[in-house]
Amino acid sequence: MPTKIEKDRLTGKDTTGHEWDGIKELNTPLPKWWLYVFYACIVWSIGYMVLYPAIPLGTTYTKGLLGWSSRDQVRDQIADARERQGEFLVGVQEASLEEIRADSTLFTFAQRGGAIAFADNCAACHGAAGQGNDGGFPVLADDAWIWGGSLDAIHQTIAHGVRWEENPETRFNMMPAYGDGLLAPEEIEQVTDYVLSLSGRAPEGADLEPGAEIYAIQCSACHGEQGEGITDLGGPNLSDAIWLYGGERDEVLAQIVNPQHGVMPPFGGRLESETVKMLAIYVHSLGGGQ
Ligand code: HEC
Ligand code: HEC
Repeated sequence: MPTKIEKDRLTGKDTTGHEWDGIKELNTPLPKWWLYVFYACIVWSIGYMVLYPAIPLGTTYTKGLLGWSSRDQVRDQIADARERQGEFLVGVQEASLEEIRADSTLFTFAQRGGAIAFADNCAACHGAAGQGNDGGFPVLADDAWIWGGSLDAIHQTIAHGVRWEENPETRFNMMPAYGDGLLAPEEIEQVTDYVLSLSGRAPEGADLEPGAEIYAIQCSACHGEQGEGITDLGGPNLSDAIWLYGGERDEVLAQIVNPQHGVMPPFGGRLESETVKMLAIYVHSLGGGQ
């Protein structure tokens, strides 16, 4: 189709010469503001390419005159964050557990840090919120403690573990296996009934006298006269409704015949000392701290 540029009568502008079925196209120039912005962008992009990393060249790239890189920026930000955390970490290092608890800023920092370390190191055994697990992994969010619920006692347990033989300061106590001839089968039945009576669940019609006598001689040294537990020895309370290995009659009896013993690894030495402190603060704050 021949193109013919002509003047449009109505607007006084040229046409482009394109025509479709009698409809002609006006040649309207781009608005000035748009053109200037466009030129400015080109100038800016050239400047940017000169100053900043821009053009890929095989395995490398043009580095730019300013020497900026996003990797350096992240490195600086991390160093910055470390430095700011450092203040708090030093605070946690230097303060005693009681002092940390009394200082609301340090306490908040320690509690958060402890929560993160707990998720990484403890949740697999003790549950994500310290709610415990079947099979001897105790609840940490209640106020029943095998080894004690003060800040220092919790710290000691975390740092040195339980029944971890390589650790000289580990928590340690073993219940004798009464099924190995220490008690006759009948006596084991009797003391089992007596243990159940401590939490108000004695079998109907059971004679508790003989079991009470056996308990006083054999068991009270570790579990307390009334079964209230002795935290210094890790002898759990037998008079509450909380059981490591189950509170049914056959479960209690099985523990007396051939006891199970929980083992927990020590975290002192494995984690930074500040982290162990933060864990103690966190566990103590779960609800059951004493
Ligand atoms: C491999 C499993 C395991 C891991 C991991 C573990 N624990 Fe334990 N923890 C146990 C067991 C089992 C006991 C009970 C020991 C006993 O029967 O005396 C226990 C006991 C405790 C106690 C004493 C509870 C009481 O009633 O006195 C505290 C506190 C504790 N753990 C905290 C922690 C913290 C904090 C971590 C993480 C840094 C952790 N545990 C990691 C298995 C574990
Ligand atoms: C030398 C100390 C010691 C003596 C003596 C002892 N126990 Fe224990 N007993 C323990 C310890 C420690 C545990 C906890 C094991 C653990 O934490 O894994 C325990 C656990 C138990 C449990 C399980 C508690 C639970 O929460 O599931 C029962 C039941 C029990 N003992 C009954 C007895 C009876 C009954 C006697 C006496 C015939 C007795 N114990 C004598 C140290 C002792």
